Amino acid sequence: MKYRSSKTMLFTLACVMLSACGSAQNNTAKKTALPALKDVFNNDFLIGTALNARQIEGKDPGAAALVPQQFNAATPENIMKAEVIHPAWDQYNFELADKLVAYGKKNNIQINAHTLIWHSQLPGFVRSMKDADSVKQYFTNHIKTLAGRYDGKVLSWDVVNEALNEDGTMRKSIFLDKLGNNFVVEAFRLAAEAAPHTELYYNDYNIEQPKKRAGTVTLVKKIQAAGVRIDGIGIQGHWHLGKIPFNDIEASINEFAALGVKVMFTELDIEVLPRDFSGADVNQRMENNATLNPYVKGLPDSVQQQLADDYGKLFALFLKYKDKIGRVTFWGVNDGQSWLNGWPVRGRTNYPLLFDRAFQPKPAFFRVVGLKKDQ
Ligand code: XIL
Repeated sequence: MKYRSSKTMLFTLACVMLSACGSAQNNTAKKTALPALKDVFNNDFLIGTALNARQIEGKDPGAAALVPQQFNAATPENIMKAEVIHPAWDQYNFELADKLVAYGKKNNIQINAHTLIWHSQLPGFVRSMKDADSVKQYFTNHIKTLAGRYDGKVLSWDVVNEALNEDGTMRKSIFLDKLGNNFVVEAFRLAAEAAPHTELYYNDYNIEQPKKRAGTVTLVKKIQAAGVRIDGIGIQGHWHLGKIPFNDIEASINEFAALGVKVMFTELDIEVLPRDFSGADVNQRMENNATLNPYVKGLPDSVQQQLADDYGKLFALFLKYKDKIGRVTFWGVNDGQSWLNGWPVRGRTNYPLLFDRAFQPKPAFFRVVGLKKDQ
């Protein structure tokens, strides 16, 4: 055995004790040097991520390290949806939502609760309701209980999610069917009564598109005309590589802000895989075939660059309108955890976010962060 100098020995010992030797030391150094999205855009808008149940329970070490470092806002991906939080008529599962609120408080992360009234991910007891009175009672209890419990604990609620069709008319749903056209106004009225300290938003996909955008404007005006509070509009932002509708997004920011509400980008991701439709209707699916999953072994450089270009241009647009935008939230922490690996085709390898499967920043991350360098 070779003898090392006592200095080296001491260093080695310290390393072992701190478990920070060799490459671990380099990694630590790299991690500390990584800019944080929440700091870079500190004076512009909140930067959020969607958290899944494992992450909220603290069972995902990678996310546990990255999320508080990078983000100052979070939306629960599923655990505050009706089927999870209100599974039976008189039964609520508050546990994970309470954990999320505590996690947010501890890490200075603002919570956007998602979502009170949505036609999807409803519990069986609601889906099978036949009479209007039962639906009305469920609707009232659900909103009052949840909006009331988390008032002052969450920053905001997506009060109603996806109430519109692509042509801007009201979407067929159990709520429209049993409660009529006014159900959105009533949802906001109940939420405003139960949660006076919480911001209240309407959230939907494709509402940057002209017809759906006009429908959104009409809907928001209707809520306001009824004297009911609405504070913001969430544009989900599930877009496609090379096809980001920049002009429509810009027009929407202006038209929505002109209503006197904040604009949020609430579920941002960029689909890089083949898809024959746009939007984010969770009930829409595509037939699987081999051509639909081309990047199992990795993302080609050209696609990686296009993703960086798209994200760069998007954030440049967001910065131009930072006075009108309250928050930009990514729908997932890293590529491996994105819902786009399982929708609209199961079992694909997708790359829609700023962090890769190992929680490492992608070129798109550096492009976005780089926008602020010259300012
Ligand atoms: C998605 C979740 O990411 C999935 O895990 C779940 O299986 C289905 O819902 N619009 C929304 C989100 O408002 O709640 C959806 O989230 C994605 C589309």
